[in-house]
Amino acid sequence: MRSCEVRIAGTDTKFVQDEQEVCLLRAALRAGVGFPYECNSGGCGTCKYELVQGEIETLWAEAPGLNERDRKRGRRLACQSRAKTDCVIRLRPSPEYVLKLTPRRFEARLISADRVTHDMREFRFQAPDAAQFLPGQYAMMLLPGVRGARAYSMSNVPNGPGEWCFYIRRVPGGKATSRLFDDVRVGETVLIDAPFGYAFLKPESPRAIVCIAGGSGISPMLSIARGAVLDPRLAGRPIFFFYGGRTPRDICGEAELKALPGFGERIRYFPAISMPGHESEWQGRRGLIHEIVEQELGNALSQYEFYLAGPPPMAEAVREMLAMKNRVPIGQIHYDRFF
Ligand SMILES: Cc1cc2nc3c(=O)[nH]c(=O)nc-3n(C[C@H](O)[C@H](O)[C@H](O)COP(=O)(O)OP(=O)(O)OC[C@H]3O[C@@H](n4cnc5c(N)ncnc54)[C@H](O)[C@@H]3O)c2cc1C
Ligand code: FES
Repeated sequence: MRSCEVRIAGTDTKFVQDEQEVCLLRAALRAGVGFPYECNSGGCGTCKYELVQGEIETLWAEAPGLNERDRKRGRRLACQSRAKTDCVIRLRPSPEYVLKLTPRRFEARLISADRVTHDMREFRFQAPDAAQFLPGQYAMMLLPGVRGARAYSMSNVPNGPGEWCFYIRRVPGGKATSRLFDDVRVGETVLIDAPFGYAFLKPESPRAIVCIAGGSGISPMLSIARGAVLDPRLAGRPIFFFYGGRTPRDICGEAELKALPGFGERIRYFPAISMPGHESEWQGRRGLIHEIVEQELGNALSQYEFYLAGPPPMAEAVREMLAMKNRVPIGQIHYDRFF
């Protein structure tokens, strides 16, 4: 595959997709173009564009980010497209999508895989150089024998020694997670391209921090909480950490938060389960996590900065409760949906 030049119609913006580049979206982001995106995984549809001229290879034709109407109108997903020739494409770039750190591709060696819950493990990888990312961002991981990269959010904070940590939930029958949990051994390497995502910690915000996680959404929320504790601009800022699971065996995060200074005072943890039953094992909060957030923080929700991560239905329910019902400005809600 040769290098291809891609121009955005009606603008002076162009970028090069080099021989190693996996897709148009990452080529654009690496070149500093504000290409709208969210999941990098074919699920959300944010990276839609139209091809004006040139030839494109589609990487995942069935990607759910496009519906029938999009397909009929000739729309494509930049995260599932690779240029085969020089191209002209149509979309509206926006400065808010310009990455603050340029993503890099590197090999990382698995150094440990420890149990977190019955279906979640913490995977720690060692990279050759410093781990540069913003708390809350994610990496694209390419596993041997698995088509397409998967997004995983870091649970740790940027660090000099080059450690990248991820909390990953095994998806029954899932291709990448089966490979990671069953086949990748300590000492083996995977390919990482990172960092991506814009739901990162905003130290310039004057508001108290609320982290809301469902399932493996715990990973970036731990990174946000850890990053907030380390950032002198956020010294003393309260952190409210909400975690939703279906049953008691899904609940995690307390031990990690307890290890941070200020747990129980500055940092408060609110776990909840959503499935009925389990009376003997669980005497804590019950309900969907967006209901718990509203119950605990009351109706003055506009005074907080919200970070959320987890399955799309959970993220939508929280966003709707905050933005529609309680009129929290959309600029105070930062989220990643885990497609
Ligand atoms: C921004 C973001 C952050 C995430 N962070 C985490 C995290 O920290 N921890 C965690 O456990 N999970 C996370 N996920 C979910 C994760 O990326 C995977 O979807 C999940 O691990 C299931 O992968 P699987 O291959 O096992 O399952 P599968 O069912 O085999 O695949 C699921 C996903 O892989 C992608 N996919 C499937 N087929 C293809 C293909 N042919 N080409 C390209 N892509 C394909 C799609 O996005 C699909 O939803 C995140 C997702 C996103 C979008
Ligand atoms: S960024 Fe391409 S579909 Fe989500």
